[in-house]
Amino acid sequence: TGKFTYDPGFLSTASCSSAITYIDGDKGELLYRGYPIEQLAVHCDYMETCYLILYGELPSVEQKKAFTARVTQHTMVHEQMQFFLRGFRRDAHPMAVLTGLVGAMSAFYPDSINLHDAGQRDISAVRLIAKMPTLVAMAYKYNMGQPFMYPQNKLSYTGNLMRMMWATPCDEYEPNPVIERALDRILILHADHEQNASTSTVRLCASSGTNPFAAIAAGVACLWGPAHGGANEASLNMLYDIQAQGGVAKIGEFINQVKDKNSSVRLMGFGHRVYKNYDPRAKLMRETCHEVLDALGLHDDPLFKLAMTLEKIALEDDYFIQRKLYPNVDFYSGIVQKAIGVPVSLFTAIFALARTVGWIAQLNEMISDPEYKIGRPRQLFTGAVQRNVVPIAQRA
Ligand code: CMC
Repeated sequence: TGKFTYDPGFLSTASCSSAITYIDGDKGELLYRGYPIEQLAVHCDYMETCYLILYGELPSVEQKKAFTARVTQHTMVHEQMQFFLRGFRRDAHPMAVLTGLVGAMSAFYPDSINLHDAGQRDISAVRLIAKMPTLVAMAYKYNMGQPFMYPQNKLSYTGNLMRMMWATPCDEYEPNPVIERALDRILILHADHEQNASTSTVRLCASSGTNPFAAIAAGVACLWGPAHGGANEASLNMLYDIQAQGGVAKIGEFINQVKDKNSSVRLMGFGHRVYKNYDPRAKLMRETCHEVLDALGLHDDPLFKLAMTLEKIALEDDYFIQRKLYPNVDFYSGIVQKAIGVPVSLFTAIFALARTVGWIAQLNEMISDPEYKIGRPRQLFTGAVQRNVVPIAQRA
């Protein structure tokens, strides 16, 4: 490969240095700014986690209050964004809508699009974190044909998201604390994950100097794929398929299909590029999953029973053991979201909302790095060698 290293899929290439998230895939460790995810999930909420990821330290009480107040001040979106959204078909996938809306923010907030101005980047960061729940909920309400709910800022970040998704203007709405905590934990566990595909996309996109909203829209687009953030939706759809074919009794047949060398079927929500022993986020999400199923009395629901049986069978199967394939965070986050009433088509949008802070922190880090350059991978050319053009009339 001459001067270049050929590394498709970046299996062994470090594209940047970073001080945000540390992963030890063999030990199953995940730290945000040095803090183990297990401690953050228990002692912090999503707002504290955002502050930590963005600014490098956990906030004091005063700092958290000030940050939350700033975010709260920006939760509404420009009223005209509604009309942009209404241009979509009513059945548009929320990730299609979100990719469009986040990209469109560059047009709605032109006063904070200069990537090289740290102050503008900070306002964009706050705007994005604040408005993502509003946009995700609007995409959902639009699918449902229900009126949009404006943010109500006396609620927590997550409580507000719940209200914007599930309340109607006719009724009072109080977020259920068990659901609020579960959803908040989903957000914490998805907040950053070092140089995954969507984060690398954001970095590459922003390396050209484009604006932060455009770069985050690129991240949303990448996250949508079923091998990445789309796995939570794909995993639930897989469970529905197995259920439609006969449920628990058909798991064996499905697993055989996955194991068949000639089939491209994968067990969605299983496997990870970096975690080869277990995914620490999955362990925490599994706990939440059982808490939620207990609290909502759903342990006997056929879909959830199916999920738990599939998990057990796969974990004991040689194919999965040999390849070190374990359930990842998306397997359980899909089940939790389904249990608490998030529609399946919205799962990846919730992931995008949670990951926004990570994308922004990584973008900030890149722009502030004196070694940062436009990303420009090289290639191993395998096409035709030089040849002469034959005028069309003379071509065979
Ligand atoms: N089901 C069945 N077989 C699998 C799976 C799976 N989910 N994942 C990997 N394998 C097999 C694969 O066929 C290959 O087998 P063989 O060596 O016989 O050819 C071996 O395991 C290695 O697979 P790979 O594709 O080289 O592994 P990778 O590190 O490139 O892929 C992955 C990682 C996450 C893309 C993959 O495991 C996968 O497609 N999983 C399902 C989708 C999913 O759940 N993605 C969410 C990841 S976690 C959240 C996030 O990042 O967004």
